[in-house]
Amino acid sequence: MEQKISLTGIKPTGTPHIGNYLGMIKPALALVQDYQALYFIADYHALTTVRSAPELREMTYEVAATWLALGMDPEEVIFFRQSDIPELFELTWILSCFTPKGLLNRAHAYKAMVDANVEAGRNADDGVNNGLFTYPVLMAADILLYGSHVVPVGLDQKQHIEITRDIAMAFNNTYGDILVIPEGLIKEGVMSIPGLDGRKMSKSYDNVIPIFAPAGQLRKTVMRILTDSRRPEEPKEPDEDNVFNIYKHFAPAEDVETTRQRYRQGGLAYSEIKNELYTLLEATFGEAREKYHGYLGNPDALEAIMLSGAEKARAIACPMMRKIRKAVGVRPTIAAPLIDG
Ligand code: TRP
Repeated sequence: MEQKISLTGIKPTGTPHIGNYLGMIKPALALVQDYQALYFIADYHALTTVRSAPELREMTYEVAATWLALGMDPEEVIFFRQSDIPELFELTWILSCFTPKGLLNRAHAYKAMVDANVEAGRNADDGVNNGLFTYPVLMAADILLYGSHVVPVGLDQKQHIEITRDIAMAFNNTYGDILVIPEGLIKEGVMSIPGLDGRKMSKSYDNVIPIFAPAGQLRKTVMRILTDSRRPEEPKEPDEDNVFNIYKHFAPAEDVETTRQRYRQGGLAYSEIKNELYTLLEATFGEAREKYHGYLGNPDALEAIMLSGAEKARAIACPMMRKIRKAVGVRPTIAAPLIDG
């Protein structure tokens, strides 16, 4: 039986941190067993904000090296770069013609910019480029081009999945059952992993623990996690402590329970549990860090992996595009030869 497809996109902005690992990388890698996974670097989505070619290139390599170092097997996962798939942009246009403008007006990211502009007395669309506005259509094309069944994403992407479904249903209503209606797989619990200051771990808050910080820096970063000022002998509330709320995702289940008790009993210093967390992080990522640097030092190998992934992805995309082009009434194949699927 053909395996169902799991697809997700990773925007190459900001060095990957342990919040990304728990919220996205780890759950996505767990799906590889049961699905044909297509995971890609959404570099054209990053272009809505990134304005430096070296930065876009380096971030692309950093993200690719991160996923590979953390165990993604490019023989098993179709791993590619969004901008290597020309069919994607044909589909983006076609889907645009099925996307009510009002739906995009209500998309959270765009609406937040408009609200901030209005609040500040500026023109509503100040600083908004059309790429930001139509971001959800490109994402819908990413998902629908390969007939994806499930899309593992964080909670912040939920609305984008809903928009994708709306667009696909509008298309299918007109032309019949051509597009697969995807399901979002949303990990809610792990999205609440706290950063150094206790707010959600996020690049925009500058409170992250990078996955591959050098050991010394990793240790220093862990020591900076904000705690209350309870002294070692005082009892503490584990579930309200930022260190514990990161620790619990990395420690074995039995240890999580005993550590909870050690908090409540008193006698556990925050510095001690921070040390334990550091040791766990080093054990989880230390070996992968070596591989990560190996990949980063070999961009040609990364390019070769991504190009080979793009070929496999296009072998799925091209037959789908043929169906879609035929359905809407343009020539089923474009003049340039396509890769056969
Ligand atoms: N918008 C996603 C993010 O910001 C990245 C993304 C682009 C994506 N295309 C996708 C995620 C398709 C899932 C499926 O993280």
